[in-house]
Order: sequence, then structure tokens, then C-alpha cells
Amino acid sequence: NGRQLVKYDGFWLPVLYFRPILSTQKYFRAKDNDIILATVPKSGTTWLKALTFSIVNRDVYTIDQSPLLTCNPHTLVPLLELDLYFHQENPNFQHISNPRIFSTHIPFKILPDSIRDSECKIIYICRNPLDQFISFRHFSLENNFEKDAVPLELDEAFDMFCQGIHSMGPFWDHMLGFWNAHLKNPEKVLFLKYEDLKVDIEFSVKKIAEFLGCAFSVEEEKQGLIEQIAKLCSFESLKNLEVNKTGHVHGAVKNSSFFRKGEVGGWTNYLTPAMVERFRKVLASKLDGSGLIFKI
Ligand code: A3P
Repeated sequence: NGRQLVKYDGFWLPVLYFRPILSTQKYFRAKDNDIILATVPKSGTTWLKALTFSIVNRDVYTIDQSPLLTCNPHTLVPLLELDLYFHQENPNFQHISNPRIFSTHIPFKILPDSIRDSECKIIYICRNPLDQFISFRHFSLENNFEKDAVPLELDEAFDMFCQGIHSMGPFWDHMLGFWNAHLKNPEKVLFLKYEDLKVDIEFSVKKIAEFLGCAFSVEEEKQGLIEQIAKLCSFESLKNLEVNKTGHVHGAVKNSSFFRKGEVGGWTNYLTPAMVERFRKVLASKLDGSGLIFKI
């Protein structure tokens, strides 16, 4: 899908991320109050970044002064592996204010030991894999990451996706790594689904705050703060901000490309019944019995 991949420890990592991931593994030292947001790309990273940043900093900025109004969420919450790579001279991000929020696409078992072993918290968000697949496809066609890479036809890309060959794939192993960690220690890993946030965002905002140990007070609830945060971070408001219509993240990825449709179930417009049937079997063979379920 426009990206060269390398297989490492069972996962398909983009070649461009390989050194950054190894450097993160080697140099990053998590602090106990760090917050790590983990995702397969195109599963709701942008949304989760905006929400977590707003929840954690709600005493620092009022809603109408939120940095989200003037900065893309990806510039407020660094992508751990890439930013570590860019700032090797300052690998532990001493310059970031506390609590530090990072996001990452690194699979659970490849994370730096200090993330797993410290008291830091992990929030994982996953998404119906077919929506994630279609979203990634649009994102990579729009950004043309690797100039020499020829974009695959949809059926080729889908065939590879079913084999788990995609950025940070196989998605089932990525999800199961965090899912099992959540089952083992729900205080350490919160496991969210994009679709659940779509159904009831205010419930999810409260859940994230409780998980992070900063639950909303009755007073804050009465003031409508939960609703305001949900609204500020909604697809419609973020997409329509001037800052997200222009400019790039890391000089390469268009800000606007993080806000395409923001819907559930769009995959039905792209895949044939035979593709869907094949995918059902893949999902059943990989996730049945895990307790992790997606509507296909
Ligand atoms: P679509 O391409 O299906 O529209 P990520 O943030 O992990 O890169 O994922 C991007 C996907 O999340 C895109 O999906 C994008 O439109 C959607 N998205 C971005 N911001 C969102 C928000 N605030 N609320 C809901 N969906 C959002």
C-alpha cells in the first residue's frame, strides 16, 4: 500500500519506522506518570490524542483557549518512535511538560521495557479492521509516502491485509497484544474501540478520565465540561479548523488527510461480497475465543 515493510519479531513494520522503533526500544525511559496512546495507524489516533490532551490539560487551558484550536493534534502529542528518532540528542523528552503524553504504533511486545514495567498508563484504541484498511488506503494514496513505491490495486492490498501484511500488521496480533495486556491488568491498559466512541463519546471521555485517575468532579459535569471536550475533539470541529485544512505534520503528511470521513462502516462501499466473506473467515480464525469482536 505504498509503503515498504520489513518483518521484525512477527510484525510488518514500515522500513522508514524501523530504525526509529529500534532507537525507541533502546533509549526511551518511561516515567511512572507518562501516558502512552497506542494504535494501529488509522484506528482513531488523532481523536484519542485530542481527547486525552484535553482531558489531562483541562485545568491548564479553557476550552476556548485550547491549543487544539491552533495546532494539529499530532503536533501536540508526539509520535513516540518518530520524535525519539528526530530528537536523539534529547531522547527522553525532558522538554515535554508533565504528564507526558505520547502516541505510538509499536506492537505491545516490541515496546520499550520501561513502558511495560513502569507505572505508566497505556490507552489502546482499535477500529473495525475493514474501516481501518479503507482509511489507510486513502491516507497512503493521498500522501504518497514513498515516491518510488507503486500503489497496489485494491484487491492486491486487500489480499495482503488478509495475510496480515500491512503497516504494523498483522492487525490481529497488534490488537491481541494490547487486549491480553488489558485483560491481565486493566489498571495499566485501557482498551477502547472507535465504534464505541462514536456511539457514546461522553461516556468514553469519562472513562478515559477515570482510567487516568483524573475523573470529572460533579461540579465539572454540571458545567458541561465533558460535553465541551467531546465537542471540541469531534471530527466536525477538528476538520473545520483552519490549522487542519492546511500544512503538514513532520513536513510530509497533510494535516487535512487525518480528517477524511470519520464514519463507521464505509468499507461496504469498497469491498465485494467475496472479499467480505474471505475476511469473515480470517477474523474468525484469528479472533474467535479471544473475546474481541467486530461486526462484519
Ligand atoms: P476515515 O479515513 O475513515 O475518515 P488516525 O487518527 O488513527 O490516523 O485515523 C484516522 C481516521 O480517524 C480517519 O478515518 C479520520 O477521518 C478519523 N478521525 C480523525 N479525527 C477524528 C475525530 N475527531 N473523530 C472521529 N474520527 C476521526
